[in-house]
This record gives sequence, structure tokens and C-alpha cells, in this order.
Amino acid sequence: MKRLSFIVAFSLLLFPSVYADEGMWIPLLVGKYNLDAMKAKGFKLTAEDIYSINQPSMKDAIVMFGRGCTGELISPNGLLITNHHCGYGMIQYHSSVEHDYLSQGFWAMSLEEELPCPGLTVTFLNRIEDVTQRVLQGVESDMDEAIRQSMIQANSKTIADSAIANSNLTASVEPFYYGNQYFLFVYEVYSDVRLVGAPPSSIGKFGGDTDNWTWPRHTGDFSLFRVYADKDNQPAPYSAENVPYKPKRYFPISTKGISAGDFTMVYGYPARTEQYITSQAVHQVANVSNPVKISLRQTRLDIMKNYMMSNDTVRIKYASKHAGVANAWKKWIGERNGLIRLNAIEKKEALEQQFSQWVNETQERVEEYGYLLPRFSELYGQREHYLKADDLRREAFAAVEINRFALQFTRLVEEYYTGSEPDLALIEKQSKGLIASTRRFYKDYYSPIDREIFQMMMRYLSEHLSDSLQPKALKGLIQQYNADWQKITAKYFDESLFADSTKLIYYLSNFDRKAANYMKTDLVYTLNAQFDSLFNEKVVTPFQMVNDELTVLYRTYMKGLMEMQPNRIFYPDANFTLRVAYGNVEGYSPCDAVDYLYYTTLEGVVEKSQMGVYDYEVPAKLLELHKAKDYGRWAVNGTVPVSFSATNHTSGGNSGSPVVNAQGHLVGVNFDRVWEGTMSDIMFDPAMCRNISIDIRYALFIIEKYAGATHLISEMTLIQ
Ligand code: ARG
Ligand code: GLU
Repeated sequence: MKRLSFIVAFSLLLFPSVYADEGMWIPLLVGKYNLDAMKAKGFKLTAEDIYSINQPSMKDAIVMFGRGCTGELISPNGLLITNHHCGYGMIQYHSSVEHDYLSQGFWAMSLEEELPCPGLTVTFLNRIEDVTQRVLQGVESDMDEAIRQSMIQANSKTIADSAIANSNLTASVEPFYYGNQYFLFVYEVYSDVRLVGAPPSSIGKFGGDTDNWTWPRHTGDFSLFRVYADKDNQPAPYSAENVPYKPKRYFPISTKGISAGDFTMVYGYPARTEQYITSQAVHQVANVSNPVKISLRQTRLDIMKNYMMSNDTVRIKYASKHAGVANAWKKWIGERNGLIRLNAIEKKEALEQQFSQWVNETQERVEEYGYLLPRFSELYGQREHYLKADDLRREAFAAVEINRFALQFTRLVEEYYTGSEPDLALIEKQSKGLIASTRRFYKDYYSPIDREIFQMMMRYLSEHLSDSLQPKALKGLIQQYNADWQKITAKYFDESLFADSTKLIYYLSNFDRKAANYMKTDLVYTLNAQFDSLFNEKVVTPFQMVNDELTVLYRTYMKGLMEMQPNRIFYPDANFTLRVAYGNVEGYSPCDAVDYLYYTTLEGVVEKSQMGVYDYEVPAKLLELHKAKDYGRWAVNGTVPVSFSATNHTSGGNSGSPVVNAQGHLVGVNFDRVWEGTMSDIMFDPAMCRNISIDIRYALFIIEKYAGATHLISEMTLIQ
């Protein structure tokens, strides 16, 4: 042990850069920029094994799962693993009080028992291409920005269209480095995806919101799905005739486990990072936006929890909503703390100082870059007002479920108020769609929760929004009821069409001018329509204009930074395209006197379960397995490994991403980051930033010993 840490310390001195694990890299360019560093860390394969268009490669085994997660294929028969929290919506969709798969878990014991998941898709990446030159064709450096943008849009569309002509593929062209480069992504979408297995939430969501975003972690955060295709292995909508998809490539699974220092790679779809924003932008995240958003969500969560604890139906209805609200809430807290601890604002200021000096060294640079920092400063000054208002719109106004819902009706109703004849085809289409979303909305709606949230949020809005941003209908209510929020709430909910789904569906089924007129007098409809148009005009539009100009400035700023630091390899911000992150298995020290190990075990699950905390309840069967030490082939040193931490740079969207070892074998499934490292979307700290993965052996143990679904393990390729 001593010897190992000596070697590590020594090599740190020699190769400091080898240990900087920051970065989410473009798979296509790994060979050019990253392979040497990856090899130095232990990686044994080639760039072609990661991404290739000539042969099956790892990318063919990875999917964008739904619209916000990653998943990977683990058998020749289309079996897919992702996180429990990624499959959560679907597990909930299939759950009822009678079949409570959220609480009990679900295991299909044969293909016939696998459950179709309407609306769920998985998206395979077909190829990536650098199309910068083609996108920028005709673009001049001194061009008007609006003309430039429309040219880029037109070029991008031509490129994407021609990439998918005569195929069932989809494509998009995405800007990188704020539009200094452009890449084409061609995808293939499969839409028959079925639920195969999920542990009970007491395993898959063990630790719940108490442990979310923290280490040490004991969550068995995985679920299993299967991709189906038509008889030619092509994408097809759900059909009983469809058969399991045969992937070009799937991940073999290593059961050898991981040790401290082992190479790991996380390959998936991180959604959004902002690594290059200025000090003022960081200030606005840490000190303006996050504090308000955190406290508003706290209020909302307390209300939901209260009702969920006392009623099982409500608990199921609100499980997914609550988890979603809590997730960002907790992340923002960690992010703010991390930015402050890292002195992120000061660090950015120092960089800006350096940039200024560098710019002032030559007249040429002054001309190209001299205006940037002063203009950033002006724009961020303007932005703060809009940001605050927009946060209130999202986190207070739209926190009221019925508000978000009512807004969907404006398109339909306003069609009768355009001054010309209403488009009947459009009306028919709109009302059909709204009937479906009304059914969906009320399935998981519990109005006592929404009423209480309305009361808290609207009161907050009325006290914090400038007078000019308060809709007339809201001011009217406050005046009429003398700011008695109980009465205002009763009025808002009791008399509205939106309080009665049957009536609403009745109106939608026979929608005509009379219905539109009636809707127009509805209080919920009116207040929302007023709020929306007021905000669009006074907040959303100007805010967008400021943000658009900032993006343009960042394009030039990025170019300048790259020129100033010619030896640094810049990785592009995450933009929900496929990325490679690599690092090593490693613990960390979160604070003075504390050192965290890099792995957790079943012992920790049992320890926590004895604390009497709701989030730490464990199924009896798991406790029995533990008591009998009935671990079968999954025993390691008398227990079962559960999760591990590593230094890979990941973000939201990387949930469910494959974590592979130096040989490219699956050793884990990524599901979170540690609390002290959540600021890595803005600034990465090698000492604190760790991703958290479920040890694949824990998933296998649960599948085999807990669920007895050995047929699933037989499908996989285990490397022992
Ligand atoms: N924090 C993880 C991710 O960002 C997991 C979220 C799901 N778990 C939860 N308790 N809400 O998305
Ligand atoms: N749990 C996150 C997700 O859903 C991944 C964790 C992170 O943000 O790093 O994507």
C-alpha cells in the first residue's frame, strides 16, 4: 500500500497532465487528441475500438435512452442496461396499486412478459462528421450576425438532409465551441423498447433523495430493457410481430471487478456544460440564480412530501415528479457550494485579466478581441434582471402544474381570435392532442398538492415580481380578495374548467367557437394567457436576445482563448452528443480529516437500513441474502461490492452510460456525481470531482440471487 502511494505520488510529479481527467471528448477525434493520454492511464485498445465507421465499435452498443439518458446493449439479443432512475418513468407508467413495480420490482421471466413502453425510443449513433467548412460556406467574418445565422442554418439543413436522403435515419448539425466548429450526427431511432427488469425502488433508488448526489453511495441504480426490431432488424413501431434487435456490437461484462487506480472510460451523452463562461456568468449562477431556485424548490418539495407520506396513491402519482424536482434542487446546492469553495469567480477573473493582458500586447489583437470583456460586462449587467424574472417564471409560476397544463391550450383557443377564419384541420388536430394530454395530466395529478403549491408560489410571485410583470388577472384577484390567499386559491381552482377533467374532455371533443369563447372567460386560462404574453414580451424575448449576443461573443472569446493557450487542448462543452470521458478508479477526501474509499459494499446497505430512515428501507429478501451470506458467485471478501467512484468528467445525461475498463469490458453503469464535485459543469476540480457508478457485479447479483432471473445472465457475455 505504502509502495503504491509512493509510486503514484512520484508519477504525479513526472506526469501531472496524465492525472488531469477533465474533459468530454468527441469520439471521432479521440485518436488525435486523447489516445496517448488514455494509454498512459492504462487503456489497452485502439481509437477504432471506440469509434469507427468501418467496423463495429463500442459506439454501436451505446444509445441515447429516451431524451435524457444513456443506455448500452449487453447481449446479442438487444438486452439493454441503463439506470433505474432513467427507466423510472416507464416503471411508474406500468405501476398501479395492484401491480406496484415501483415498490416490488418487475422481472419478465420470458420475452412474452416484457412490457411495451409507448413513447420510449433508443437512438443509435450512425456516424459523426466534421462539417465545419461546409456549414461556414459563404460566411464572411464581417457579416451581419443575423445573415450569418440564417446562412449557417440553411447550410446545416442541406447537409443534414443530404446525409439522410432515402433512408430512415435522422441527422442534426451541432455547433461546437460556440460555433467555431460544426459536426454532423447521423442517428437511427428504434421505437419498440420493452421493460425487462427493474429492482424494487428500495434497491434501485436506495438512499433516495437523502443520498442523491452524494458519496458513499449504496444505490442499485439499474434497470433492463430490450430493443425490438422488425424481421429485417430495422426500426419499427411496436408490434407483436417484432423480434429482439441484433446489435452490431454489445458490451462483454467483466466480473473481475475494479481496483484503485484502474483505467475507466465513460462513454455517453452528457447534456450541457458551461466550462468557458466568464466570472460574471459564474456569479449569476452561484449568487443570483441558484439561491432563489433552491429555496423555491425546497418549498415545493416539502408540500409534495407531506401528502406523499400519508397516501400511497399519491406517493405513486408523485414519485417521479418529486424525484425530478429534488434532483436539480440538490444539485444546485452542491454546485453553488463547490463554486464558492473552488474560488471559481476569482479564478475566472484571473483568466480574464490574463486575457486582457494578452490582448493588449498587439494592436491586431486589440482590434479583434479588445471589445469582448467590456461588452460581456454590459450584457451580463442587463441579463441579471431578465435572469431573475425568468427564474421566477420557471420555478414559481410554472411550478404550479395546472399553469403549465393550461398553457398548452392557447394555440387552440387563440385560433378563433386571429381575425380570419379558423383552420378547422388544425383545430381538430389540436383538440385530439389535448384530449390525450388531458388524460395523461390527470392520471398523475393530485389537486390538494397543486393548490398548496399555487398558494405559496403565487404569493411569492406577487411579492417579488415588479408590478409591470404582474398580469392583470392576478392583481385583480389580490385586490378582490384582499390578498387572502386561501380565498384566491379556492376561486382559482373551484370555478375553472381545468378543475374538472371530464368536463374539459367534453369541451375538447366538441370544440367550437362557443367553447373557445367560454375558455377565454376561464380564470385559469386567462391568468396564464396574460402571464405568458406579458413574459414573452418583457422577459423571454429580450432575455433571448441578450443570450444570443452572448453566444456570439463567446464564439470570438473561445477563439481568443485558444490562440492565447496554443498548447492546451480544449474540449467542447457538452451538447447532448456522444462523448468519451476517461479517468481512474479513485476515492477522494471531501474535507479535512476525512478520506473516502473508492468502493462501497452490501455491508453499507445493511448499516444504513438499520437507521430507521425512510429512504433506507431495504427489501426483506435482500436482508435475508445478507444474513445467510448467500452471494453465490458474486461474493467478494465475504460481501458484495455495490458502487465505486472514479475521476471521469461526466454530467447530466451520462446517467446509464457504460463504464468500461482498459479492455473495453463493462465494469459499471454511471449514475451520479459526488456532492463536492457537482460544479464540474462549470469548473472541474481534479481533487473533488468523481463520477459514481453501480458496480456491474451488484446488478448481476440482484438479477441472479435476488430476482432469480438467471435467463438474463445467460444472454450476456461474462469475462471471468
Ligand atoms: N443525481 C442523479 C442524476 O442526476 C440521479 C437522480 C435520480 N435520483 C433521485 N433521487 N432523484 O440525475
Ligand atoms: N444522474 C445524472 C443523470 O441523470 C448523471 C449524474 C450527473 O449529472 O453527473 O444524467
